[in-house]
Amino acid sequence: MDAASDPKGSAPVERYGVVARLFHWVVVLMVAIMLPVGIAMTSYGFEEIRDELFILHKGTGAVLLVVVLARLVWRVVAGAPDPPPHWSQLQRRLVALTHGTLYILLLTMTVTGYVRTVGGGFPIELLEALGIPPLIPEIGDTAETVAVVHKFTAYALTGLVGVHVARVFHDQWVEKKEALKRMWPPIGG
Ligand code: HEM
Ligand code: HEM
Repeated sequence: MDAASDPKGSAPVERYGVVARLFHWVVVLMVAIMLPVGIAMTSYGFEEIRDELFILHKGTGAVLLVVVLARLVWRVVAGAPDPPPHWSQLQRRLVALTHGTLYILLLTMTVTGYVRTVGGGFPIELLEALGIPPLIPEIGDTAETVAVVHKFTAYALTGLVGVHVARVFHDQWVEKKEALKRMWPPIGG
C-alpha cells in the first residue's frame, strides 16, 4: 500500500491502494443514489415518475452488484493497510467488525434486490438491453419475503454507515489523526 507523507512530520499515514479507494468512493456514490431512489419509488407522491425510478434503481443496482463482487475480490487479493498504531486492540476489532458487516450488508442489499426483482418475474431493463438473461428462475411468493429482507437491510446499512462515518470523523477531527487520508483521494494521491 502507498504511504502518504504526514505534514506534521510524524509517522506516515498508511493509505489504501488506488483501486480500493476508487471502489470505495464509487460504491458510496452509487449507494447515495440507490437509497433515496429506492425510498421514493416505493412512496406515495412519486407515481408520475415511478417507472423511471424503478428502471434507474434496478439498472444501477445490477451494476452495483458486479462492482461489489469485484471490490470483494480485490479486497481479498490486495488486502488492507496496517491499522494506525494509535488504535487499541478493541478499536481494531470494532473497525474490522464494522467493515466486514458493511461488506455483508452491501452484498445482501444487491443480491436480495436482484432476487426480489428477477425471482418475482420482473425485468431489469438495463440487463435486457445488454442481452443478459435472468440468472435465476421465478420463485413465486418467496420474492415478497426477499423484498422484506431488502427493506430491513437498507435500514441496517444506513445505520451502520452512520456509525462508520461518525468513527472516521471522530478520528479525523476529535483525535486529529488524518483518518480520511487512508481512503482519500479516490484517485491519484
Ligand atoms: C446497495 C444497493 C441497494 C440499496 C441501498 C437499495 C435500497 C432500496 C430501498 C431503500 C428500497 C425501498 C424499500 C421499501 O421501503 O420497500 C428498495 C426497494 C427495491 N429495490 Fe433496492 N436497493 C439496492 C439494490 C437493489 C438491486 C440490485 C435491485 C435489483 C436489481 C433492487 C431492486 C429493488 C426493488 C424491485 C425494490 C422494490 C421492493 C418492493 O417493494 O417490492 N435494489 N431498495
Ligand atoms: C455507502 C457508504 C459507505 C460504505 C458502504 C463504506 C464502506 C467501507 C468499507 C467496507 C471500508 C473498509 C475498507 C476495507 O478495509 O476493505 C471502508 C473504509 C473507510 N471508509 Fe467507508 N464507507 C462508506 C462511506 C464512507 C464515507 C462517507 C466516508 C467519509 C467520511 C468514509 C470513509 C472511510 C475511510 C476513511 C475508510 C478507511 C478506514 C480505515 O481503515 O481507517 N466511508 N468504508
